[in-house]
Amino acid sequence: MEQGQDSLKISPKVAGVEYAIRDIVLAAKEAERRGVRVDYFNVGDPVQCGFQPPSNVVEEYVRAVRRGDNYYAPSEGLPELREAIAQRERSKGLHTCPENVVVTNGISEALDMVTASIVEEGDEVLLPGPYYPPYSSYVRLHGGVPVEFAVDLFGGKPDMDDLRSKITDRTVAICLINPSNPTGMVFDAASLRDIVDVANEHGLYIICDEIYDRIVFDDGFVGIGSVAGDSPVILLNGFSKVHLMTGWRLGYVAFTDSPRLENIRRYLPRLARVRIATNMPVQYAAVESLRGPQGHVDEFVGELRQRRDLVVRRLNSIPGLSCPDVRGAFYVFPRILDNPYPDDYQFVLRLLEEQGVLVVHGSGFGHAYGSGHFRMVFLPPPQVLESALDRIERFVS
Ligand SMILES: Cc1ncc(COP(=O)(O)O)c(C=O)c1O
Repeated sequence: MEQGQDSLKISPKVAGVEYAIRDIVLAAKEAERRGVRVDYFNVGDPVQCGFQPPSNVVEEYVRAVRRGDNYYAPSEGLPELREAIAQRERSKGLHTCPENVVVTNGISEALDMVTASIVEEGDEVLLPGPYYPPYSSYVRLHGGVPVEFAVDLFGGKPDMDDLRSKITDRTVAICLINPSNPTGMVFDAASLRDIVDVANEHGLYIICDEIYDRIVFDDGFVGIGSVAGDSPVILLNGFSKVHLMTGWRLGYVAFTDSPRLENIRRYLPRLARVRIATNMPVQYAAVESLRGPQGHVDEFVGELRQRRDLVVRRLNSIPGLSCPDVRGAFYVFPRILDNPYPDDYQFVLRLLEEQGVLVVHGSGFGHAYGSGHFRMVFLPPPQVLESALDRIERFVS
């Protein structure tokens, strides 16, 4: 390097930011340059797999653009949308109101705002193991320490003893992702109640991500709100999955009425104001998506149920893999029994290289509980899934 041309400083905080689901694409692009034909099962994007938002929602978007509603929206969100969101979340039992809703650029931005608001240097945030990677990335970015607690993937329950043992005087929040990415597990009411009780006992925030709330296959879904009452719940949700709007980038934070949330209800909107607003026409489309016909949700979930049945059955028929039940979302998280490679990351790279199937290494969802697994998306059409499963079977055998 020429003298005086050393790379300029970078904040060490950014070194803790990882997103395995997309970081792994670098390896796939490299393999493609070497002539490998790659099929992608890494990103949970239904719209890239043949699903689209319903036409009434698309029309509402176009109508807003044509009407000239192309200016900055209010920072906290369009009043009609905040009203529709509050109504939707209240129907799931959450004690909230339109004034307690802040509309964001996807849950991703909501999570950034929430962690920025509550995490100081050295604060600990409890995450379900395994977890969706941005949870640890944003906690680290804001100076905190992610701490994983065990969840029994086969029994579908959090390990309450483990959770309790990991609470320290630096713990500020317990996060839940329900239904779970990456495991497809869905917590029952009793598990949610246990977690709410522990959080209240220790004066912790409860951050609950319900982005897959209507993508459940067997039993009904229990929202955290219906067991939490006036506990300090920060509910995260959005329009990417159930509403098939991944590319439109819309989500929200909904706070309960808890007096313990008074500070964050007051201060988080400052973060919303400093980033100005979210996309205005998309907010009109989101109102239509919540208030208009809902038939597309059943159709979508019906399709996914068949794909879930196919993928779980096929994976469990492969000696060398063991796949827990999937009750919601659109991911499988099989365990690799007797991995001949040094770790799950090497397993995923070899599968990519030899069979052109891109999945995500389990350790990308937290080392403590994700290692030794991989995550595969089951959104693509059945024949595409069958072909990938044939190749996974060949590879593992
Ligand atoms: C649990 C969970 N939360 C949030 C997101 C991202 O949401 P958004 O598109 O609203 O930023 C995802 C996407 O995969 C997810 O699985």
